[in-house]
Amino acid sequence: MRRRFVLGTALSGLVALSAGIAVADTPPLAQKDRYKVGFAQMESNNPWRIAETKSFHDTAESCNWDLIATDAAGSAAKQVADVDSMIAQGIDVLFLPPREEKPLIPAVMKAKAAGIPTFLVDRSVDPNVAKAGEHFVAFLGSDFIDQGKRAAEWLIENFEGEKGVIVELEGTTGSSPANDRKKGFDDRIAEDDRFEIVASQTGDFARDLGRQVMETLLQAHPDVNVVYAHNDEMAIGAIQALELAGRKPGEDVTIVSIDGTRDALQAIIDGKMGVTVDSSPFFGPLACEVMNKYAAGEEIPGWVQVEDRIFTQENAADHIDEAY
Ligand code: AHR
Repeated sequence: MRRRFVLGTALSGLVALSAGIAVADTPPLAQKDRYKVGFAQMESNNPWRIAETKSFHDTAESCNWDLIATDAAGSAAKQVADVDSMIAQGIDVLFLPPREEKPLIPAVMKAKAAGIPTFLVDRSVDPNVAKAGEHFVAFLGSDFIDQGKRAAEWLIENFEGEKGVIVELEGTTGSSPANDRKKGFDDRIAEDDRFEIVASQTGDFARDLGRQVMETLLQAHPDVNVVYAHNDEMAIGAIQALELAGRKPGEDVTIVSIDGTRDALQAIIDGKMGVTVDSSPFFGPLACEVMNKYAAGEEIPGWVQVEDRIFTQENAADHIDEAY
């Protein structure tokens, strides 16, 4: 049995890829009036995560979900245990944003063994071990490599200095967005010999760690004039560190980032940040639509790709009211 995924009008701004079609190997989902749905969040220490969890809660009633939402507080081991607990509670379907690519594979495998269809949301797992259409139904999320590449392309087009000395603040080590945003940016920036990445270190997608790492790297590399952060929280932390050191973000340091949070859009409006590539946390409505199509026996692509916008001086003010 193959399942067909057809774009609905509610999915404007989203693109379904035809590659990697989900086939019969994943557990079926019966059509029911109400579903017991598990959403195993990884942490709630930043606006992006809070907005994503809220999107699932906001969707629950209209999608007929009895939602069990957990918070693993930044621990992959707890996230696996949270999924174990949801399986024991008899969930019909699992939505899982895996904190890291490898440690969450046991959760995916256990859900499949228990006959529970799993959808990965916003982050993915190691594709060499767990596969869409076989171990989980589909990955709903962005093209992180492309996000990094678009950040690099904005920098290449807009940097006015002679030599770009880049500090890169990486996301959570071993997570799919950290791996892919690094690859997308580094590969593209390597094509322009004006730029050099002098340091690349994790800030765990967290504002305060981003600030601390930036403080340390500034001492080792006082000539830095570009910061590429894998998310807005670390970019805001970097701005704080730069200002404390007497630097002028937006004037003597160009900041490029990814997400589209309210604070980042405000920093763009204030002239402190150059660009942030959109990475939407509002997965609830998409999760509802894809789940219902799966239950109806429609074909689901292995990757339901979210299309990302880009925010700059030109449009940040137009979007700040819808930001989180
Ligand atoms: O997986 C998406 C990333 O995770 C977001 O960019 C980041 O802010 C979040 O914690």
